[in-house]
Amino acid sequence: MKNDNTIRNVSIIGTGSYLPERVLTNADLEKMVDTTDEWIYTRTGIRERRIAREDQPVSDMAKEASKKALSNANIRPDEVGMIVVATTTPDMMLPNTACLVQDLIGAKNAFCLDVSAACAGFLYGLEVAHTFIASGNIDTALVIGSDKMSCITDWQDRSTCVLFGDGAGAAVLQARDGTRGIMRTLLGSNGSLADLLKIPAGGSRKTASVQTVKDRSHYIKMEGREVFKHAVTCMTNAAQQILDHCGLTIQDVNCIIPHQANARIIKAIGQQINAPLETFYINVEKYGNTSAASIIVAMDEASQDHRIKTGDLVLLVGFGGGFSWGASLIEWCR
Ligand code: UT7
Repeated sequence: MKNDNTIRNVSIIGTGSYLPERVLTNADLEKMVDTTDEWIYTRTGIRERRIAREDQPVSDMAKEASKKALSNANIRPDEVGMIVVATTTPDMMLPNTACLVQDLIGAKNAFCLDVSAACAGFLYGLEVAHTFIASGNIDTALVIGSDKMSCITDWQDRSTCVLFGDGAGAAVLQARDGTRGIMRTLLGSNGSLADLLKIPAGGSRKTASVQTVKDRSHYIKMEGREVFKHAVTCMTNAAQQILDHCGLTIQDVNCIIPHQANARIIKAIGQQINAPLETFYINVEKYGNTSAASIIVAMDEASQDHRIKTGDLVLLVGFGGGFSWGASLIEWCR
């Protein structure tokens, strides 16, 4: 920990991810609701998604991803000063999931908090941890995106159940000299559009009752077409603004890792910012939309595949319920 007022550079020094074993294909969904593989693939780019075991909470997936990230970074659990878990599907309302992960991995010196920013959650968690390290409050943080979307998905609603999947990813952040690391993160929200994507019951506004269960109000409700339009606009603007802010152009970026909600959204962003599709890392075909896990799972895979290498400029961009969105520009240093 440092004592002066200088801002420190912060890098991602390790990543890890965990996807449950069970695969649910579009063919499986054809047997559950009135849909087709052809509709799902052409409208979303998704072929299959992973589904967690019924007895497997978000903290368990987070634990698996965190262990891999810590090993990848060569960091002991007791060196972690802070754990941030981004999730929409916490194990329980109380305590927060980060405390549960702390116990599972033995990170006894960390303080723990959850962030709630839906599919943009990993970017929010990244910036919270970045700020704590940059200011010298702590040296090392673990940022996790973990979601069990299968437990808030209405498996009778074909307009949403084909979209989501379960998974977790984790990143270890540490102060590092000699590399720019996380160069800049921009975040934004618009609560006036909250109704377009929500889970109506189960919180303090509409507490759980026999009626809310009968009404299926504990599941995701989404105005897909509207959300689609806002997702494209917000992620396009966020990507452009962060490049302008850093005095860079899209040609300077080696890899764009977007939130993996829909391949058509990603293509539309590419057209708006003049980035060829090859610049994007896309894995939505295999996992669907894993919400807070989506960007960090893709980042971990991109790193394992050597699609991103030391010195590369990586642009992360995400969007989700709230609405909440963000973009982050990183000089990769693994
Ligand atoms: O993570 C951030 C939050 N989420 C997102 O970013 C998702 C954003 N939205 C989307 O990705 C797209 O809007 C969807 C994939 C959800 C839907 O695609 P769309 O092209 O916007 O379709 P639509 O909602 O306009 O529906 C077109 C038709 C409708 O039939 P009619 O009214 O035209 O007869 C739907 O009833 O497709 C029908 N439909 C389906 N058909 C077969 C909706 N879901 C299905 C389905 N299978 N699963």
